[in-house]
Amino acid sequence: MLNWGVMGAGGIAYVFCNGMRFTDSGQILAVASRTRERNDRLANDFGIPRQYNDYAELLADDDIDAVYIATIHPLHAEWAIKCAEAGKHLLVEKPISMNHAETAAMVDAARENDVFLMEAFMYRCHPQIAKMVELIQDGTIGNVQAIRATFGYRSGFNPQSRLYNREMGGGGILDIGCYTASMARKVAGAAANELFLNPISVKGNGKIGPTGVDHIAAATLKFENDIIAEIICAVECNYGSNVIIYGTEGTITVPNPWLPSSPCRGARTPLPPDTTFPATQLIVQSSQNRETTEVTVPADRDLFTYEADTVAAHIADRQAPAMSLDDTLGNMQLLDAWREEVGVVS
Ligand SMILES: NC(=O)c1ccc[n+]([C@@H]2O[C@H](COP(=O)([O-])OP(=O)(O)OC[C@H]3O[C@@H](n4cnc5c(N)ncnc54)[C@H](OP(=O)(O)O)[C@@H]3O)[C@@H](O)[C@H]2O)c1
Repeated sequence: MLNWGVMGAGGIAYVFCNGMRFTDSGQILAVASRTRERNDRLANDFGIPRQYNDYAELLADDDIDAVYIATIHPLHAEWAIKCAEAGKHLLVEKPISMNHAETAAMVDAARENDVFLMEAFMYRCHPQIAKMVELIQDGTIGNVQAIRATFGYRSGFNPQSRLYNREMGGGGILDIGCYTASMARKVAGAAANELFLNPISVKGNGKIGPTGVDHIAAATLKFENDIIAEIICAVECNYGSNVIIYGTEGTITVPNPWLPSSPCRGARTPLPPDTTFPATQLIVQSSQNRETTEVTVPADRDLFTYEADTVAAHIADRQAPAMSLDDTLGNMQLLDAWREEVGVVS
């Protein structure tokens, strides 16, 4: 039973605390938030017994085994390194940091202090990803040739919001392009019987707004196994969410790639114990007869519960295959290259 501390009490921290209601693998022992109102809301709604006004106080609590860093991304590296030095295991929200150099320092700190570290790509922990990999490796669609991964929504421009403010880590590539990048690398890897592959070429384009960050961005990637990926993200355009994997014998569509089975996402109150978690579907289409098969992937817990359970299950290994340290480093390298191609001001 892991004792968790939550650092930052914003939107995603609330979702994670809700997800923790559906597991026996851990409990939230403390929350640290600089903001009284948010701190109290989280503690009261989820019965969290310890509250700290300062992130450093959380690190000084010897009863905390693992810290979930849920602050805006520019603070991830600094606090993850401090947590590692305090001997705390770590789950850090995506993107794990602002760039590859920061990430390398975090990985070094985790290794030097012998603590677990995982980037919180919760979608990787859901059983639909294992099923998707299985379908690819079973040759269901022949040889994978191309991938299209999309994640985009329209949020009104606000230069003070974390989505658009450069100092707060704004831009779509960091916010959601990281999902599309990690999915393309996952699929290309699955086709090569690896956990992931890094692209050998990255070409990008995008729209930069007045604060110097990307509002809309796309990239084409090429992998060593000749797989081509198209990845698209936006905080200013309703692209929606979708992944299509094109093979020589058919396609696999993942209609709900990022947020399957998650009543916790969007819930504004603690969910009742009898909450059920919707199954998700993968759609396989054969190119020979155009026949479509729906593959249902059931879920017995929330997406964010799968994530917390993944951490608990792999603490002893110090990293999890769902999102290994090398996988995270490769993803951040790709985000650096994509942001440079698009012309994000850093
Ligand atoms: N996995 C997912 O599905 C998912 C979804 C959304 C976001 N995220 C990630 O989670 C992280 C937080 O996103 P969010 O949507 O939860 O953001 P949010 O609601 O704006 O909360 C961000 C938290 O960051 C902390 N913070 C520290 N310094 C800050 C500053 N100078 N300005 C504003 N906030 C500051 C605040 O903590 P205090 O409580 O201490 O004030 C605040 O509660 C981001 O890295 C984001 O990419 C992940």
